[in-house]
Amino acid sequence: MSLRFTRAIIVGASSGIGAELARQLAAEGCDVALVGRRRAELDALAAEIAKHGRKAIVQTHDVTQVDETPLVFERLVEQLGGLDLIIYAAGVIHVPEEGVWDARAEMQQLQVNAVGAIAWTTPAAAMFEAKRAGTILGLSSIAGERGRRNMPGYTASKAALTTWLEALRNRVSRYGVNVVTVKPGFVDTDMTKHLTKKPMMIPVNTAARLILAAARRGDSASVFVPFQWWLVAMVLRHMPSFIFRRLDI
Ligand SMILES: NC(=O)c1ccc[n+]([C@@H]2O[C@H](COP(=O)([O-])OP(=O)(O)OC[C@H]3O[C@@H](n4cnc5c(N)ncnc54)[C@H](OP(=O)(O)O)[C@@H]3O)[C@@H](O)[C@H]2O)c1
Repeated sequence: MSLRFTRAIIVGASSGIGAELARQLAAEGCDVALVGRRRAELDALAAEIAKHGRKAIVQTHDVTQVDETPLVFERLVEQLGGLDLIIYAAGVIHVPEEGVWDARAEMQQLQVNAVGAIAWTTPAAAMFEAKRAGTILGLSSIAGERGRRNMPGYTASKAALTTWLEALRNRVSRYGVNVVTVKPGFVDTDMTKHLTKKPMMIPVNTAARLILAAARRGDSASVFVPFQWWLVAMVLRHMPSFIFRRLDI
């Protein structure tokens, strides 16, 4: 079975992977709602998509404003005339310097990467459960496999997101809802610009293509992008803690 998407919400669509997913979805005939805080970037992307004859709705929204989410979600579904795919791509990363501690920056990652995802995917899960159809896709990360010394809040937020998506999958896949967890390695976007080590980095268009292929399979999977990261994850998961803590990752 290969799913075809015609109406999608992309949260975190103003740049990087989210923007490229919106482009590729629109190119194959999907109307999209683009969510993010940066209006100019969203408007530019919507104009690009409109040139290809697809509807692109722009919605500025800060995902930490969770009280607004149910109403914004409802309005976007109405404007799209229904929904068959929601992608949660919003994310932030904070890599603290050695000896520097900043609780606010650490908590912000939990708010954006995990709490925002719960706020957006909950109304989608409820709607899809009632419809007995629909796809929820969340961009987690291989970083969520272990708690890392160089990005503690980020790794904690992605572990939370991965577990949330697994729970959602276990709750709604029996009603025909497809819940996809994507764990990319390094993708060439603004988020990775400042990182010094980026092994096996892939271009954003390749990442988006692999992500949409996983979504279309409709088998409620958890996938690494590209799949070779599965082997890295296996090694990381099984590494004893006393060794892992000595690594500078
Ligand atoms: N790049 C990688 O190597 C990589 C690897 C693994 C996982 N990921 C994950 O993939 C996702 C996309 O990342 P990316 O690489 O494409 O980075 P990016 O270009 O920085 O995109 C991040 C997106 O998140 C949105 N966002 C951030 N804070 C937000 C907020 N408070 N409210 C609403 N939207 C917010 C941004 O929009 P605004 O700034 O306009 O709000 C932007 O659209 C993230 O979840 C990231 O953790 C990336």
